[in-house]
Amino acid sequence: MLGVKVYLDNAATTPLAPEVLEAMLPYLNEKFGNASSLHEWGREAREAIENARAIIAQKLNCEVSEIIFTSGGTEANNMAIKGIAFANRDKGNHIITQKTEHPCVLNACKWLEQRGFEVTYLNVDEHGMIRLEDLEAAMRKDTILVSIMHANNEIGTVQPIKEIARICNERGVYFHTDACQSFTKEALDVKRFELDLVTINAHKIHGPKGVGALVVREGTRIDPLLHGGGHEFGLRSGTENVAGIVGFGKAVEIAKPEHVLHMRKLRDLLIKRVLNEIERVKLNGHPNKRLCNNANFTFYDVDGESLVLRLDARGIATSTSSACASHKPEPSHVLLAIGLKPEEARSSLRLTLSRYNTKEEIEYAIEVLKEEVANLRRIAK
Ligand SMILES: Cc1ncc(COP(=O)(O)O)c(C=O)c1O
Repeated sequence: MLGVKVYLDNAATTPLAPEVLEAMLPYLNEKFGNASSLHEWGREAREAIENARAIIAQKLNCEVSEIIFTSGGTEANNMAIKGIAFANRDKGNHIITQKTEHPCVLNACKWLEQRGFEVTYLNVDEHGMIRLEDLEAAMRKDTILVSIMHANNEIGTVQPIKEIARICNERGVYFHTDACQSFTKEALDVKRFELDLVTINAHKIHGPKGVGALVVREGTRIDPLLHGGGHEFGLRSGTENVAGIVGFGKAVEIAKPEHVLHMRKLRDLLIKRVLNEIERVKLNGHPNKRLCNNANFTFYDVDGESLVLRLDARGIATSTSSACASHKPEPSHVLLAIGLKPEEARSSLRLTLSRYNTKEEIEYAIEVLKEEVANLRRIAK
């Protein structure tokens, strides 16, 4: 299959949906108004933003006034963690998170530690799950925030956020969840799950890069990160990214449950065949509580980076660990946290699917994977 291109790195980012691009284009062109302006151009932009906000609020079952648009998941996570920390300092200075969070959560917490906050990093089990009893034991009188991601970006493990939220609510502690990977793929209901803060972004769901949102439940005490003209209900100043927000809304509107079923079917095929047809391989992450589009394997005696490059040379995009960390030589902190040895972590490969992948693409990827794993093992001997 010469010239074949198979994109299997959708946890890093997804291709823009054609409908999303079409919806965005007018706002990069003739509909260029500033949403704060009173004239027709301004009103047109404001209407477009509010339309997107309504679509997203409906999907999440929250109020429109609870959606704060940001520049993406990184900003929303920073805002949730630092914003809660600084606004609630009089109540306490203890935060609970876990070891397999995205670096933007972990590094925001480390930054707060340098400024007098205390952070507990919960361990996870061999599947990447926190233990609820560990969370309960870590709770203190001065705990102000628990931040546990909904689904992991490397191994796809889905955490029990409803139960975590209940534990937090019983103690009057704010709960934040980073749902960048799970949004539109897993059930996520702000009111029913009683979530205080939720991070989402657009580029993981076939929307544009550079746009996301933090859901802030009404009554939550939070400080803004960015001060200025008071945009986004006073919580995130700065002229809104109108085209990006319109694209985000469209991406949410066109995400359908049948896409999840499609991805799950292909993921199951991929996992089953890789485990059956390749020797000395193991699946990382949870056997069933995992994202519909995630497969993460350790291929023993294979260098993960070499495998990514060999697959790339044959038109297949995959990843060793999270994209944001892949320039670093250290093994993935997530794989180490679930108990892999450094050499096992370095022998790992992540394949993440989207609604656009086909069965033929997955079958091609499996055949190439079999060949390249065998080639690398032969060389390593
Ligand atoms: C779980 C998770 N959180 C946060 C982010 C960061 O989001 P963004 O790229 O929009 O800043 C990502 C994506 O890289 C992610 O996978």
